[in-house]
Amino acid sequence: MVNVAVLGYGTVGSGVVEVLNTNKEIIKRNVGEELKVKYVLDLREFEGDPVQEMLVHDYDVILKDKDVKIIAEAMGGEEPAYTFTKNALLAGKSVCTSNKELVAKHGAELLAIAKKNNANYFFEAAVGGGIPIIRPLNDCLTADEITEISGILNGTTNYILTQMSEKGAAFEEVLKDAQDKGYAERNPEADVEGYDACRKIAILTSLVTGKQVDFEDIHTEGISKITETDFKYAKAMKASIKLLGISRKIDGKFYSMVAPFLVKSKNPLYSVKGVFNGILVHGNMVDDVMFYGQGAGKRPTASAVVSDIVEAAKNLGKNIPVEWEETKYELGKFSECKGKFFVRMKDKGLDDEEMTTLFEKLGEVLYVRAEGVTGEVAFITNEIKEVELTELLSKFEDVYSIIRVDF
Ligand code: NDP
Ligand code: HSE
Repeated sequence: MVNVAVLGYGTVGSGVVEVLNTNKEIIKRNVGEELKVKYVLDLREFEGDPVQEMLVHDYDVILKDKDVKIIAEAMGGEEPAYTFTKNALLAGKSVCTSNKELVAKHGAELLAIAKKNNANYFFEAAVGGGIPIIRPLNDCLTADEITEISGILNGTTNYILTQMSEKGAAFEEVLKDAQDKGYAERNPEADVEGYDACRKIAILTSLVTGKQVDFEDIHTEGISKITETDFKYAKAMKASIKLLGISRKIDGKFYSMVAPFLVKSKNPLYSVKGVFNGILVHGNMVDDVMFYGQGAGKRPTASAVVSDIVEAAKNLGKNIPVEWEETKYELGKFSECKGKFFVRMKDKGLDDEEMTTLFEKLGEVLYVRAEGVTGEVAFITNEIKEVELTELLSKFEDVYSIIRVDF
């Protein structure tokens, strides 16, 4: 029997206990022995819940118990998760986590500590909820040079954008719904402003480059500025608006960003709706590979954590190497990124000198109209550098929207 401890009995942690109980026999078959939850650590009491029997409030009880070989960390946040994880790994216990904030910041260091102590630090659930993406990158796509990873990496925002687009629902109302369903972060600003997707693309890019990609270096925009009018234009263009995390290798260097994009139906991410995430990986040999599944939520996320626990149980005392050094990876400059942009701005008329100059400099653009929208001009540019568009539009006060276009 292998003893496991679960840190945090919230959405994910309670899901981990549920998966281990519900699929006890299948898991036993896969591991070769039974997995038993010996302790659950939380700050709260859970009167009437069977978890009460395993509940502890002092982490040292778990740390000092030599029978506990694997810890599932589902508390979230940087501290005390970092200290708890580090001490567990130093004690030779493996740690499986869904905590992307911690992985993005300290992943390389914690992997090195795990290696030194013949333990494992696994984080399948940290990216894409229930979607297997970390292990496929580490184990299955190792024959390729990965040149692009792009995807819908946040379930909450994809759920919000889908409900707003298809049902005309109000932002705040859908966000509340996503929170009630357990999709959102404790501080939902992390979802809405793109920080969560940013940490996930940083983790994926770190794994692809084998070096530390600092999430602070990634240009990040969220969905809070997307309006009902933007959806009207999207509909007119037969496109959808998706928050994408993108890392693309150009001339030997990765360029990364998180931002809303207009995508059309030829892009497989167009059909990724609701809480589902989709991750496209391009390798120089395998070509395009797509990963799809629920990006958030109790059971899908817990399923990924438990798959890590199974892997850790099958490899007790043996480190599975993961290439991710602490050396910093220098991303390409965001300002140099090129793309097409959808722009909405006040229509000052064709006689306006600044407008005339703008369109002269932009060259040919594709004008877009949306039903019932007046008093503004909307268009799609040709390929232009981020820095150049910013410079051109900086002269105008009434720019309502700038959304990158992926078609
Ligand atoms: P919850 O807030 O639902 O659960 C966290 C639990 O940990 C709470 O019960 C909390 O108690 C407890 N906790 C917090 N600090 C401590 C501590 N110091 N000691 C003991 N217990 C503590 O969060 P989630 O389950 O949603 O998320 C957990 C992690 O998983 C986060 O990193 C999140 O980003 C990640 N994640 C979440 C997904 C989801 O769909 N929800 C999907 C993928 C990843 P209390 O409430 O009393 O503070
Ligand atoms: N809040 C996150 C999301 C949880 O909505 O995607 C999964 O990482």
